[in-house]
Amino acid sequence: MKRVLTFGTFDLFHYGHLRILERASKLGEELYVGVSSDSFSLSKKGYYPLYKEQERMHIVSSLGFVHGVFLEESMEKKRDYLSQFNASILVMGHDWEGKFDDLKDICEVIYLPRTPLISTSELIQRIKLEY
Ligand code: CTP
Repeated sequence: MKRVLTFGTFDLFHYGHLRILERASKLGEELYVGVSSDSFSLSKKGYYPLYKEQERMHIVSSLGFVHGVFLEESMEKKRDYLSQFNASILVMGHDWEGKFDDLKDICEVIYLPRTPLISTSELIQRIKLEY
């Protein structure tokens, strides 16, 4: 049974998020998603997400093709999460291309193309400028 793991903040959940999760789910039988904690997101992106970690986890877990979610507390724990879930595939957006190749000793690492023209930070900028 192939279990897929992927990670992200998924703040202001949008079409690009939906598409990567949908594609990741098709690569195996079960998809589990590590949702970045508020403090981990702050350290990655430089600001707190607009939606709280529990809200972001609730949204992602409500998707029919997501089997479960958990909080991702730090970048360095990816290896531990992959082992805990006994995952055979790690999916990341291609903005991370090559960055997780060291994990290829325990699972397949697949970088998927991002959906063009949408991101949380771009949405925030547009709302600031246009509304
Ligand atoms: N993602 C995607 N296509 C997009 C936006 C995001 O495939 N247009 C993917 C990312 O590659 C990642 C996952 O969605 O695997 C979660 O990304 P996240 O960083 O939470 O969302 P972004 O919209 O990229 O947020 P930001 O603008 O803050 O970087």
